[in-house]
Amino acid sequence: MQTAHAPYSHFPVGAALRGADGRVYAGSNVENASYPQGQCAETSAIGALVAAGQTEITEVAVVAERMDFCPPCGGCRQRLAEFCQPETKLYLCDNGGVVETVTMGDMLPYGFKGDILK
Ligand code: THU
Repeated sequence: MQTAHAPYSHFPVGAALRGADGRVYAGSNVENASYPQGQCAETSAIGALVAAGQTEITEVAVVAERMDFCPPCGGCRQRLAEFCQPETKLYLCDNGGVVETVTMGDMLPYGFKGDILK
């Protein structure tokens, strides 16, 4: 969250994903003067995890400076689900720590699954 590039919304977000290797991959939202080109913190963190060769997410944490807790947006739920299990926990945090704990299945009960495409 501290490294977010959010000069337009002034809404910094941070996401941290634990990979199957036990390491934590962090990301922040990266906005752009051409607004639709910006990306969410979760998406940035997924990029870091995948670039490190990881293909599984075992835990997710999200924090936003200006919200009591920040549920991932719809698009990021779909992106996260690609690498999570339905029982994977998402920790929705504030500066003090975890406010709500939910599962990926709670967050995205009818997500599109790519199995058929493989
Ligand atoms: N944002 C995230 O980074 N993650 C979310 O799950 C919700 C929204 C960012 C996108 C944009 O930079 C700012 O928050 C306001 O929408």
